[in-house]
Amino acid sequence: MELIKWKDSYSCGIDSIDEQHKVIFVLINKVFDAIQGGKTHDVIKGVFIELLEYANYHFALESQLFELYHYADEQKHLDEHRWFIKKIQIMMIHDYLTGKENLLETLHFLVEWFTDHILKTDMEYCKYFRFKEVLEEVDVFVRVRKFNEAYQKEMKPDGL
Ligand SMILES: [Fe+2]
Ligand SMILES: [Fe+2]
Repeated sequence: MELIKWKDSYSCGIDSIDEQHKVIFVLINKVFDAIQGGKTHDVIKGVFIELLEYANYHFALESQLFELYHYADEQKHLDEHRWFIKKIQIMMIHDYLTGKENLLETLHFLVEWFTDHILKTDMEYCKYFRFKEVLEEVDVFVRVRKFNEAYQKEMKPDGL
């Protein structure tokens, strides 16, 4: 079952960015599925970490784009990312200390934050890039970066 469904209104006009947001949705649903399907704690935690790692990767990419294109609201946007990471960390530490892990609650918070962030804050930078007429350029940048990462992984699996 899906916890979250992609809608056209989430689209910000840069295909490669939409693709990354869609990956986040897929991973959210994967965690939800693992919880609903009664998977072991290790399996659930494993997919949850996968989701957080991908979100971090995506945040780093957005940060790189802001720097590259001198985005005026860069700090405000990055503060939101930082706030989110801290909030998740606090929730997880709280669960650990109390011995009552509630990943479903953390996941619900994550869904709410992400949808709101994509619809408001991410839309703002897409608007800015559109205004700057660099939408296509940004799209190519993201794709080239993705290609290079895949190439590195394929050609140098040990990171040599
Ligand atoms: Fe984003
Ligand atoms: Fe963002």
